[in-house]
Amino acid sequence: MLLGIKSKKDLLSRHALIGFLAAILVYLFWLSRPELSFEPRLWRALGDSAFTFLFITLAIGPLSKLWKPSLWLLPWRRETGIWFALLALSHFLRVNDYAASVPEFQLPRLLGLIALFLTLLLAATSSDRAVNFLGISSWKWLHYSAYTIFYLTASHAAYFLFIRFPGSNWFRYSFLAMALIVFILQLSAFVKIVVQQKTKSWY
Ligand code: HEM
Repeated sequence: MLLGIKSKKDLLSRHALIGFLAAILVYLFWLSRPELSFEPRLWRALGDSAFTFLFITLAIGPLSKLWKPSLWLLPWRRETGIWFALLALSHFLRVNDYAASVPEFQLPRLLGLIALFLTLLLAATSSDRAVNFLGISSWKWLHYSAYTIFYLTASHAAYFLFIRFPGSNWFRYSFLAMALIVFILQLSAFVKIVVQQKTKSWY
């Protein structure tokens, strides 16, 4: 969507703020697993932060439809989405060699790779210039794939959290809560729109 952010300085300070929050989140995830060695500790912290940023990005839209006071969050979706992409890319760069070396990981790895490819495509088209170039409807159509990314990523992470390494990761509960909240928000916003349209057509 066109945001019309005026200056480069404005854009940079918005990214600096969200980037700072992303760094804090990675650090908190890092702190939460002192028992792990450096690499798994880092790639898990990056993967979990990426998923959390994806959750925030996808929750903002339906939330603003359901609860007007949250409307101010809407223009921040672009920055949270771009930082989600950067976190997901860093997670991939750290973990890919390990993932490629384990035969049982190839299906969840493929899901992760497709999600990452779509993520980078959306990040590359997250600008007013891209909206103007593609046109609003084609841009919107492209960006609806954010939900495909969510379900691909959720399946990818669910494999590692519940099947491959069950019982050893506290993030399982937060992950489940976030996946459920996105689904419920999406469904509720849809129901609200249907009810509003029906009510309008009756009068
Ligand atoms: C949108 C892209 C991606 C997101 C959001 C994402 C997210 C996640 C999350 C949340 C976890 C669970 C971390 C934990 O155990 O706490 C995870 C695990 C993992 N991911 Fe990804 N991932 C993505 C892409 C990829 C890609 C492209 C690869 C490899 C090519 C990959 C490889 C792995 C591996 C091997 C694990 C298990 C790590 C471990 O348990 O030590 N991911 N990912």
